[in-house]
Amino acid sequence: MKILVVGNGGREHAMARKLAQSPGATVFITTGNAGTDEVATPIPIKPTDVDAIVRFAAAERFDLVAVGPEIPLAAGLADRLVEAGVTVFGPVAAAARLEASKAFSHEIMDAAGVPSARTHTFTDLDAALDHLSTCPVPVVVKADGLAAGKGVVVAMTRDQALDAARSFMADRTMGDAGDMLVIEEFLQGEEASFMCLTDGRTIRPLASARDHKRIFDGDRGPNTGGMGAYSPTPLVGPDNSPELVEKVMRPVIDELARRGIEYRGVLYAGLMMTADGPKVLEFNCRFGDPETQPVLTRFRGDLAATMIATATGRLEEAVFDFDSRVAVCVVAAAPGYPGKVSTGQAISGLRDAASIPDVFIYHAGTSKGPDSMPVVSGGRVLAVTALADDFAAARELAYRAMDRIDFAGIQFRRDIAASVSTHRENTGKP
Ligand code: AMP
Ligand code: GLY
Repeated sequence: MKILVVGNGGREHAMARKLAQSPGATVFITTGNAGTDEVATPIPIKPTDVDAIVRFAAAERFDLVAVGPEIPLAAGLADRLVEAGVTVFGPVAAAARLEASKAFSHEIMDAAGVPSARTHTFTDLDAALDHLSTCPVPVVVKADGLAAGKGVVVAMTRDQALDAARSFMADRTMGDAGDMLVIEEFLQGEEASFMCLTDGRTIRPLASARDHKRIFDGDRGPNTGGMGAYSPTPLVGPDNSPELVEKVMRPVIDELARRGIEYRGVLYAGLMMTADGPKVLEFNCRFGDPETQPVLTRFRGDLAATMIATATGRLEEAVFDFDSRVAVCVVAAAPGYPGKVSTGQAISGLRDAASIPDVFIYHAGTSKGPDSMPVVSGGRVLAVTALADDFAAARELAYRAMDRIDFAGIQFRRDIAASVSTHRENTGKP
């Protein structure tokens, strides 16, 4: 069975590793990184080059294309693969719009009655500034389109809110993504990442997770793509995930179906658990990064068969569950991240760190240097993930591994899963 993973980050390394464990699977990855070689053959086609991926997957008769990132999905990669007769894990562009346009996702949530923040949408800067001059603060200013997790400003003051609106719309810091602004009521509570597989009919929750979006310990500093994650979160488990499926996932999937759009793949809801109940912060049309690293590390089952079942409308038949141990994932980032990063530094200690039992090192922004040794090539560099019976033990393992790894200017948070590990009751199953 030939499987092509599209993407080159830590999420895709975790996908490729688990897919390679499926019986009879041979995994290829476009383009991969310095770590994916151990499980997948690299293919030199950019993950955003939709035409080339479709040509290659069809000509080489792949049995499954599993898409990691949102950009090719929003650009219609799944539509094109379906047309070419290739089985694809990932939604069509019309469904991926749930992530690609925050205004569209609010439109769907409103129509479907899914709880979310109150929202105002603007295509005119002056109108947005007028609104921000009088609305309550804190307030959240979002670029409508795709911005790699960097198009959201939680403004604590009115000036911050006005600056954010100007930078997105007038200075175009997020490019076209900022042509429309979504201004949201500020929600308070604890966050959770809730991912479900769906074939448009059946909906199957995955183990829950929590990510840490801010760059510095104590949730300080700017938002990033994610500096670490753990699974499960005690906020989402067997007690409430059936209700979340019915109140959040099913209404959205049904509302899309009413509009003639079938959602197949993984649907990710970023939730805020507020005093008034769970509310949706965002939908993503793909696996979260870095949540996928701890979640798929815990996945038990045949991932290739599960993805094919999802893609072909047979998700009901898929058999999988999750390791009862918990997982903690700590991201090592390049100096400068989430701003402009410096790259090219040699990475040491990887083998030593990976030799610790129950530690999995997923590569993200790495490539092979002149002597084939891994060097830093992107913002988020590694996702060091550990499995253990409780969060304290998983943290100890992950940080023991991280302390063996080094590159010039390495930055990572010391407090991933720290607050959860102090609660014994938080070590339960998903
Ligand atoms: P998003 O990419 O939309 O999930 O936003 C990124 C992060 O910004 C979220 O994980 C939250 O921490 C924060 N955020 C987004 N929307 C809101 C909101 N309405 N209220 C409070 N915080 C928010
Ligand atoms: N970790 C959040 C995301 O993947 O968007």
